[in-house]
Amino acid sequence: MSAPASSTQGAQDAAVLRVHELVAGYVKGMPIVKGASLQVGAGELVAIIGPNGAGKSTLMKAIAGLVTAESGQIALRSASLLGLSPDQIMRAGLGFVPQTGNVFATLTIHENLRVGGYLLGAELTQRLERAYTMFPALAAKRRDKARTLSGGQRQMLAIARALMTDPSVLMLDEPSAGLAPMMVQEVFESLHRLSRQGVSVLMVEQNAKGALQHSDRAYILVEGGNHLEGPAQALLHDPAVGAAFLGQGRRREAA
Ligand SMILES: Nc1ncnc2c1ncn2[C@@H]1O[C@H](COP(=O)(O)OP(=O)(O)OP(=O)(O)O)[C@@H](O)[C@H]1O
Ligand SMILES: [Mg+2]
Repeated sequence: MSAPASSTQGAQDAAVLRVHELVAGYVKGMPIVKGASLQVGAGELVAIIGPNGAGKSTLMKAIAGLVTAESGQIALRSASLLGLSPDQIMRAGLGFVPQTGNVFATLTIHENLRVGGYLLGAELTQRLERAYTMFPALAAKRRDKARTLSGGQRQMLAIARALMTDPSVLMLDEPSAGLAPMMVQEVFESLHRLSRQGVSVLMVEQNAKGALQHSDRAYILVEGGNHLEGPAQALLHDPAVGAAFLGQGRRREAA
């Protein structure tokens, strides 16, 4: 059996992505993310869960350079990402799959993947082949428009597209949202597989239970700050987490 404390420590020592006391929002002086900190180790699958409006998406957007950080630190390996453009952050090794608008519906699957790999030179062909090997359902439909894909296949395409640049960290905002239960499972399993292949994965999820079941560690974000964190299995079985965040144990009080 693994020892949660030491494995968590190990992951932190080898952090690939490190966010420290980040303050960020849409209007200067009115932060949404209020001092959040997190780390993702090499090959770790880490989930961020928390109530609606907690600032989970804003935190991801700040890491991806789409929202300006007011203070704190964001680093990929030892390189600071603060002040870099989204494009520079992607080139530094961070792949981001936003919740919506993550594929071009009117382009074919193949064209979507080529757009994802627009920075690539000679490696493009090999990366395209790798994407099709990883997601065979996409290979069969490579000449179809992305709009013809099911929700689950679309999410796979968005993931495949983000992987074209070979990111060291893949960040996803609610990858299971709106998917049929079987596809939810498949998406989580793909992300787990990816993490085992060495990609560090950070996902925000509304499906807290499913996310915890498939993750190594998790953070619970409340009102823009860290509320709880730990090994996913420990959080999954923590009665306090179950009652407040997994809809278990007691009836949710009226808001
Ligand atoms: N573009 C924006 N401009 C201004 N305020 C915004 C913007 N996007 C989100 N907010 C505000 O920031 C707060 C946090 O939103 P955010 O989307 O980060 O939460 P979340 O934790 O991802 O919620 P959910 O679980 O509903 O996705 C909310 O009060 C929201 O109204
Ligand atoms: Mg959100």
